[in-house]
Amino acid sequence: MNNEELKIDSEKLPRHVAIIMDGNGRWASVRGLLRSAGHSAGVKTLKKILTTAVNLKLEALTVYAFSTENWKRPHAEVDFLMHLFSEYIEREKAEMHSNNVQLKFIGRLEEFSAGIQKQMYDAVELMKNNTGVKFNIAANYGGQDEIVRATQNLAKKISAGELQPENITAEIFETELDTKSQPPVDLLIRTGGDYRISNFLLWQSAYAELWFTDTTFPEFTQEEFISALVDFGKRDRKFGAIK
Ligand code: FPP
Repeated sequence: MNNEELKIDSEKLPRHVAIIMDGNGRWASVRGLLRSAGHSAGVKTLKKILTTAVNLKLEALTVYAFSTENWKRPHAEVDFLMHLFSEYIEREKAEMHSNNVQLKFIGRLEEFSAGIQKQMYDAVELMKNNTGVKFNIAANYGGQDEIVRATQNLAKKISAGELQPENITAEIFETELDTKSQPPVDLLIRTGGDYRISNFLLWQSAYAELWFTDTTFPEFTQEEFISALVDFGKRDRKFGAIK
């Protein structure tokens, strides 16, 4: 489907969409299934959302797959999510590449097992010259952690005499973020009925439009995704100014 068939005005589309994919566990529990079944169902939704992003030629899509706090979940669930990442990368990378997707993982990747890190780096390497949707998977990611890491890098440059503190600007700061060279988040979607940001893309979402739905992520459809995009097109964005 192209934008005309979808009745979408490309001019009004967000450049960067971020999604907090919440509600997998609850989707599974109400069906008497294990939480892991909810995460597997979430992966199927993610595939459809990425396809829509490719068809609509969104510039960037960032999804929250695993937070710096998610290690506190039961061992079995963490292990299952690791298994899911690994399976997802291997299964999807060829199709992503053929769709010109530029994959990136954002977060503290060094805390993943050597095997998963290799799969991540190999997939990123495969797609590094692609020019389509920038698809960021936030894994062991926390917005505060990202800001602390960026600050540490700037502090190192100052101690090495490469940077003066008074020369730090928002633009310089952004060059140290995981999403450097990408547009700020225009639209932040959260599924699953909660109304919070949960430490996701704190800097990048400074002026994001927020869109919340009670629909759990496994039940989130391409149609609902598109209605969020259309709703974004009707928002009056002022960025702190007066129109
Ligand atoms: C939140 O739902 C979801 C997560 C912590 C993981 C999201 C992961 C996926 C959608 C699949 C894996 C992703 C990739 C890229 C392979 P929850 O478990 O907190 O749900 P609940 O609030 O209902 O308990």
